[in-house]
Amino acid sequence: MKWLPKISLLAAMTTALACAPVAFATGAHAATTRYEVESAPATCAGLIESNHAGFSGSGFCNADNASGAAAQFTVTAPAAGAATIAIRYANGGTSDRPADVLVNGTVAHPGSAFDPTGAWTTWVTKTLTVSLNAGDNTIRLNPTTAAGLPNIDYLETGAPASATTTVWLAGDSTVAANSGGNIVGWGRELGAYLTGDATVVNSAIGGRSVQTWLYESAVTGTKNSAGECVLSSTAYAARWQAMLDASSGMKAGDHLFIQFGINDGSSTCPRHVGSARYRELLTTMVRAAQQRGAHPTLVTPVSALSCSGGTATPTRGFLTETFDVGRATGAPVIDLHKLSYTLYNSLRLCPFNGDYSSGPVGAFFADDHTHFEAAGARQIAGLVATAVRDQRLALSAYLR
Ligand code: GCU
Ligand code: CA
Repeated sequence: MKWLPKISLLAAMTTALACAPVAFATGAHAATTRYEVESAPATCAGLIESNHAGFSGSGFCNADNASGAAAQFTVTAPAAGAATIAIRYANGGTSDRPADVLVNGTVAHPGSAFDPTGAWTTWVTKTLTVSLNAGDNTIRLNPTTAAGLPNIDYLETGAPASATTTVWLAGDSTVAANSGGNIVGWGRELGAYLTGDATVVNSAIGGRSVQTWLYESAVTGTKNSAGECVLSSTAYAARWQAMLDASSGMKAGDHLFIQFGINDGSSTCPRHVGSARYRELLTTMVRAAQQRGAHPTLVTPVSALSCSGGTATPTRGFLTETFDVGRATGAPVIDLHKLSYTLYNSLRLCPFNGDYSSGPVGAFFADDHTHFEAAGARQIAGLVATAVRDQRLALSAYLR
């Protein structure tokens, strides 16, 4: 295992956060640029027509009614990072005309819905967040059913993302605002890295597995034949119901960060969660966010401090499961587990004599080996913010 020397990691983090405004501050409010589908280098696998009023420019793309009959735009981004695109279309048919949205040849949004608009003359815009490179990028709308695309009018970049966003947090005590005493979770400090347009709703709560977070007291102390804790009811806990609420919960463009896996490893109910169940519940949460047009991000469990001589070692489970769910759902994964013990090494917190009240370890950790004091929580939140930037997650538009 190779560790970054302390100086270069800290320097990299400082530079990263200091530079963030240059690259991203304009993300949420950038001026828009319109790319008409009838103007090269845009392409249309069909005909440019003008028989349905209300389009912009001189026409729209009536692509062939066939799977794979695509429209493609070439857009120029001033800087690499997350960008909001708006696609104007009309679908006078009676069903969705789903399309994969590919950015530079890679599917960014699989099977994106282009719902009926009521008439071929009724044009609407669909907004998506994508990661762009600096300079030219192709954005391809590739229909996945035989009905083909709806009629496409144009694509705009830098469309104002709704000016404000909500960052919803689901997790355990290492994320929670405060779990008593001097214990502070990284969720409480995340807002320090975000602009005033982002509101953090921290619904992480100490001691919870993904299952007890979702179902609370409905999780009984009894295991079924599959070894999973029996539920007395499938009614969700209020915190998850609140996120699912159609009017006040997660909305399009919001963000959901999910970090579990610390309490789930318990051998006994109610905390115990097996691998398959863990994947199932995480998937449920990710899908719920995606259905609302929100951006789910999976976070591997932040590491505790455990030293093998002078080296901080991995401490957590459910890593493979978390990555599996990311792959299966397309949700990005921040490997906070690895980032955190790597940070402990760069800070030279090992070797460690068990004293959590003094020295650099005392300043970072609360009086156990798991939880953080405010200063440590701030640095862990910094790892999350840096990953948001490095992985070009949609939330990067709201980084300070
Ligand atoms: C009609 C309509 C076209 C449209 C097509 C379709 O023919 O006039 O503009 O593209 O339906 O179903 O795709
Ligand atoms: Ca058509």
